[in-house]
Amino acid sequence: MPTSGLMQPFGVDVDLIEGIMTAPDRIAATKASDMRGYYQDAAALERLIESGDPLLYEVFEKRLPLEPGHVMFCISKLQPGRVGQECFMTKGHYHETAGAAELYLCLRGRGYLLMKTAEGQSALEPMYRGRLVYVPPYWAHRSINSGQEPLISLCAYPADAGHNYGEIETEGFPQRVLLRGGGEVIVSQAAG
Ligand code: PA5
Ligand code: NI
Repeated sequence: MPTSGLMQPFGVDVDLIEGIMTAPDRIAATKASDMRGYYQDAAALERLIESGDPLLYEVFEKRLPLEPGHVMFCISKLQPGRVGQECFMTKGHYHETAGAAELYLCLRGRGYLLMKTAEGQSALEPMYRGRLVYVPPYWAHRSINSGQEPLISLCAYPADAGHNYGEIETEGFPQRVLLRGGGEVIVSQAAG
């Protein structure tokens, strides 16, 4: 038992339609201008930034001790839309503690969880309401919204996992999800 005493249990309310956690301790917001370097069509991203730099995704969290034994949880809300032909997506990351896994439960929307390993494997799991995806240890992960409404997921992972964006920022993922003429196209590429 911790010397500082036991933490008190608590509950939160989650709006399953709006994808909003009431009274979060932290909301991390990512705008178009935070996504430079991630999308294939850099000119289209600049046009989006110039048109008002919209909010692309938010993460709602409660503050928890970032210590082994705790389970961090958050609501991830990714807006629908495209940069050029490419569907809106999160940056994606490995965990700093690379062996830390994560659970994603999709609450609303349609899209994918794109995952990859440093050894060159990749996986694209469909996301839709009620779909639970397990991200095993050592897999980087990115949400992609290919639908027309927000893609909302509940995520849970070891509180000491941390986020490592560096490698994804430079190397990207081996697939991109595009919308062309109303249809989804999954494009494979070596890197970037
Ligand atoms: O813990 C997670 O994997 C998610 O909550 C993500 O952090 C969230 O979807 C935002 O993505 P990213 O952290 O890659 O910008
Ligand atoms: Ni994660």
